[in-house]
Amino acid sequence: MRYSRLWTGLGLVILISFAILGYYGGRIYQTMPPVPKKVVTTTGKVLFTEKDIKEGQNVWQSIGGQELGTIWGHGAYVAPDWNADWLHREAVWMLNRYAADQFKKPYQQLDDEKKAMLQARLKKEIRTNTYQPETGNLVISPLRAEAVSHISRHYSSLFGSDPKLDDLREKYAIPEGTVKNPGRMKSLNAFLFWSTWACATNRPGSDITYTNNWPHEPLIGNHPTGEMVLWSVVSFVLLLAGVGALAWYYATQQHDEIGSEDHFPEKDPLLALSPTPSMKATLKYFWVVGILWVIQVALGAVTAHYQIEGSGFYGIPIAEWIPYSITRTWHTQLAIFWIATAWIATGLFVAPAVSGREPKHQRLLVNILFVCLVIIVIGSMAGQWYAVQERFGLKSNFWFGHQGYEYTDLGRFWQLFLTIGLFLWLFLMLRAIWPALKKKQNDRHLLILFMIASTAIPLFYIPALMWGQHTHLAIAEYWRWWVVHLWVEGFFEVFATVVIAFLFTRMGLLRTATATASVLFSTIVFLFGRIIGTFHHLYFSGTPIGVLALGATFSALEVVPLVLIGFEAYQNLTLTRVRPWVQAYRWPIYYFIAVAFWNLTGAGLFGFFINPPIALYYMQGLNTTSVHGHTALFGVYGMLGIGLMLFCLRGLTQPSIWKTKALSFSFWTINIGLALMVLLSLLPIGLMQTWASVEHGTWYARSAQFMSQGIIHTFVWLRTIGDTLFAIGALVLGWFVLGLKTGWSLTGKRLPYAEKTKDV
Ligand code: HEM
Ligand SMILES: [Fe+2]
Repeated sequence: MRYSRLWTGLGLVILISFAILGYYGGRIYQTMPPVPKKVVTTTGKVLFTEKDIKEGQNVWQSIGGQELGTIWGHGAYVAPDWNADWLHREAVWMLNRYAADQFKKPYQQLDDEKKAMLQARLKKEIRTNTYQPETGNLVISPLRAEAVSHISRHYSSLFGSDPKLDDLREKYAIPEGTVKNPGRMKSLNAFLFWSTWACATNRPGSDITYTNNWPHEPLIGNHPTGEMVLWSVVSFVLLLAGVGALAWYYATQQHDEIGSEDHFPEKDPLLALSPTPSMKATLKYFWVVGILWVIQVALGAVTAHYQIEGSGFYGIPIAEWIPYSITRTWHTQLAIFWIATAWIATGLFVAPAVSGREPKHQRLLVNILFVCLVIIVIGSMAGQWYAVQERFGLKSNFWFGHQGYEYTDLGRFWQLFLTIGLFLWLFLMLRAIWPALKKKQNDRHLLILFMIASTAIPLFYIPALMWGQHTHLAIAEYWRWWVVHLWVEGFFEVFATVVIAFLFTRMGLLRTATATASVLFSTIVFLFGRIIGTFHHLYFSGTPIGVLALGATFSALEVVPLVLIGFEAYQNLTLTRVRPWVQAYRWPIYYFIAVAFWNLTGAGLFGFFINPPIALYYMQGLNTTSVHGHTALFGVYGMLGIGLMLFCLRGLTQPSIWKTKALSFSFWTINIGLALMVLLSLLPIGLMQTWASVEHGTWYARSAQFMSQGIIHTFVWLRTIGDTLFAIGALVLGWFVLGLKTGWSLTGKRLPYAEKTKDV
């Protein structure tokens, strides 16, 4: 077999990487922070039970979980990181208490020597692991128990409706009465205490905490570890080595694809394509893409505005109805939904076109899938809203409400429904493409790879079903990142590469043999770093040190192929000029070039910026992640979704010529808007927060005190420039797409090469 070495390589990479990923799943299970049976004082007073802690985790999930502040650094940025916040409050309370007992003064008024002495005492008290494996109890001093009650009262007031904390609630964008039930509040406190304890207590036999000393908190000696520095440096060197190796490989390859002009077809091969009924049925998917996108952008604006006005939108008190936790949940979830819808529709559009065959009842099934998707989107969003209003029991919340885990927030029932929907999609694609797969044409390998990438999408949603209602947070995080990371950084990337190469080969712009070899090769290179790279999300979530070492090194390798992506972008740009007919595809191709640009900047540069453990130690949960999140997720997959949509719409509106002014305008405003949103606002805020985190601790970088400074508010306001440009671009694009239906985006002329050809 011509490509057998490449296929073997791909198989090996996948097999070995998943073996390592699986092995460390087991290690995490063995070394994660234990959930104690009871938290008791040395005098026998029981503070919390295991049931309280586990229920507390569910309560936290039901109010939005990671969509309202962060736990272990994962989640939303307006409210604090609850662990950093709790830890700092606990440390300060204890120091003041020590100082009062011993010196009859507040801690701040002591001289440095006395402060150092008390800090040493605090460090010993907090970091010593007093979990007793024999009894399963966690034993703390009566003094610390007092601190816990003190902080618990603060949180009860905050999540309740104590008017004294109105101002803080406003700054955190938490509505009054977020947790109304006192029993639930007690459990929530138990969970906050336990998850913070894991950040502050040394692992057995070690002087590093369960979260590898995260968050940065000088008061208890939570500082970066030696391993973090070591593996960060190793990751830089590996990245350079990888780039060197790839450049060498690239130099040894022949690049005759463009320039040897003879093989480009004179006419557009795709013009012969007449859309089948099921292909036409995909059109409505693209309407939904447009609608969801507009709603998503609007929700983004509301979510961003909550940073300035925590209870409303320009004076309208919307927080009672759609609080921050809901707008942010919907904002992130809709991003996944509309991008996925665009791809699903593209797959359904392309499959019958490839084989030239319309399977029986395909159109009906495409329509059924459409209805399912609409139900899932609306149903899951309604469930989340209902959950945040505290109207579900904890069990029904798990099934139908808000799971509180970012990007996999939807209730289990909706997740199951979505999994079925994704498999139905795969089935529809397979049955349509099957005849082409059987034919043994020379692009069969590319087709197989396309099908593998498509199979991976539903398959890798299954890990989202692996955790249950009471699963330990470290394990839930492990599985969550299987979905989120392996989707966005693994199989989506493969899907993107294959789908673009595939479309170009069908247009006759790339030779199948070259495309197959290069796509297989880049898939190997991508997956080599990216599967194990999953661990870069797990440095600080209760995992052993191997996770940090492997995560840092392998995810540095993720950036290697991106460094050379400029070649691909330039090649695509050149392709738009090789024949006049390609101009009709200019805008979809421009979006593919934007995909490459943002892959380098958003995923590669801004991703690597936060990737070394020493960087993420300080930056996790700051706006630097938001910088990366927007530029990578929208920059790469949003742009790809739009490009694919335009490509399919081109096919559906053949042979009419488009009026492209609106397209050109929206392309530039969307791209420039995204860049400005990041450069004028998110990045400066992220950098200021980084400074605050290094200087004073994670708690400070996320505190109301720091985040409500005038200069931060100015930067938040500056965001409106980029956001507005972006939103205008989105609306104009929507207007254009609508115009393809009504006719105002069509010139009324036919493409000059529109007579039908037979050779496809
Ligand atoms: C197109 C590819 C990528 C996409 C769509 C993407 C998307 C995302 C998103 C949405 C988050 C935010 C998660 C959260 O809020 O908790 C994230 C986090 C992260 N990404 Fe990426 N990413 C991509 C590539 C990369 C690459 C290439 C690297 C590094 C080499 C990287 C490193 C990270 C790290 C370290 C985090 C964790 C940040 C934190 O926990 O605060 N990503 N990514
Ligand atoms: Fe990742």
